[in-house]
Amino acid sequence: MSVLLEAKELTKQYKGLRAVADYSVRIKQGEIRGLIGPNGAGKTTTFNLLTSLVKSTSGTIYFEGKDITGIRPDQIAEMGICRTFQNIRLFKNLTVLENVLIATQINKNYNFLSVLLSLPSFLKEEKRLINYSLEILETMGLLYAKDIKARNLPYGQQRKLEIARLWQLSQSFSCWMSRRQV
Ligand SMILES: Nc1ncnc2c1ncn2[C@@H]1O[C@H](COP(=O)(O)OP(=O)(O)O)[C@@H](O)[C@H]1O
Ligand SMILES: [Mg+2]
Repeated sequence: MSVLLEAKELTKQYKGLRAVADYSVRIKQGEIRGLIGPNGAGKTTTFNLLTSLVKSTSGTIYFEGKDITGIRPDQIAEMGICRTFQNIRLFKNLTVLENVLIATQINKNYNFLSVLLSLPSFLKEEKRLINYSLEILETMGLLYAKDIKARNLPYGQQRKLEIARLWQLSQSFSCWMSRRQV
């Protein structure tokens, strides 16, 4: 399997404090990795460096072999690198399915008028997006909860829902990007 994400000797220095020191990692496609350590070890800073929310003092980041060090966070997202945050950020009063559907917003292939008139093009596209969202929920083991409000899910399942939404988001982003390039 090819290396998808690679960091080489990432360092973040805050004045006298070295939050991350020479962190290197190679993550292959399909791999699941964890990052553990005590409070203050530098985990959050590492994720902030990998997603460009924080600028590194030194080091290099590659995604699919391309040097992405220092590019903007929105460009990172467009490339398909998605993240969650320490605090859960769901739409708590929307259902599980609605939370995933929100992520399709960028890739909607119909205009306002077709929504207003419920034209077949709108209904077809909406059905496609719902079906794909349901597939993601099934893979994440959340299909049973599709009509439950996000606030009523246990904590661990809310985390899973955030990942399901990111999955849909990265899919929608790549469809949107390829349409934009045509
Ligand atoms: N913006 C900042 N300015 C100064 N120090 C920071 C900043 N962000 C994090 N730190 C320090 O960097 C170290 C690592 O923090 P952090 O990455 O949040 O650790 P973790 O997520 O593993 O608990 C801590 O000592 C923290 O106080
Ligand atoms: Mg942290």
